[in-house]
Amino acid sequence: MSTVIAIDGPAAAGKGTLSRKIAETYGFHHLDTGLTYRATAKALLDAGLPLDEEAVAETVARKVELSGLDRDVLSRHEIGEAASKIAVMSSVRKALVEAQRAFSKRLPGTVLDGRDIGTVVCPDALVKLYVTASPQVRAKRRYDEIVARGGAADYAAIFDDVKARDARDMGRADSPLRPADDAHLLDTSEMSIEAAFQAAKSIIDAALSRNAQK
Ligand code: DC
Repeated sequence: MSTVIAIDGPAAAGKGTLSRKIAETYGFHHLDTGLTYRATAKALLDAGLPLDEEAVAETVARKVELSGLDRDVLSRHEIGEAASKIAVMSSVRKALVEAQRAFSKRLPGTVLDGRDIGTVVCPDALVKLYVTASPQVRAKRRYDEIVARGGAADYAAIFDDVKARDARDMGRADSPLRPADDAHLLDTSEMSIEAAFQAAKSIIDAALSRNAQK
């Protein structure tokens, strides 16, 4: 059986970097499930299809190939916005969750990050982490990232965007963003990535050794 690590949390909390580091450390496969929503949104935008027709979006979601998800292409702001709109549609979620669950079974283990991994996609995951940080810290990290890449960024606009994205992700009826009851909370507001990684690693190592003793 595959060992599954589920990592959830709001946008820009540091889940991505943390998940990649965990996957690399344990030799597990990694899936950023946000990219599956983004790929669906991009395919709709590219084809000039509407973002508010559930049946159309579902057909497109069923064609998303997990092997072809390109983070650089999919990270564009307008794709994220469109993704968060189609992510409220139950049939789109159902299609993408099926593909994500199939991925989670890969051996020897998998790390999936997103919004509903511990609650819906992999409720039996060995370890569930809920990674968060204050909206101010998340907006500042995103701002620094854009500036570091040589871009122009507006902190106030990014902050408003982070809050709007939270409201949409936490407020939707189907699979809203929330910590699973058995998730470990990791608030990275005042933590470096390295410190967050060490905290996550202790939790995972403890769970793996408990599992080995069963
Ligand atoms: O993490 P991200 O910004 O790449 O996610 C893009 C959108 O996809 C986000 O607004 C919410 C949605 N999403 C989701 O509903 N469920 C997931 N498991 C992952 C992302």
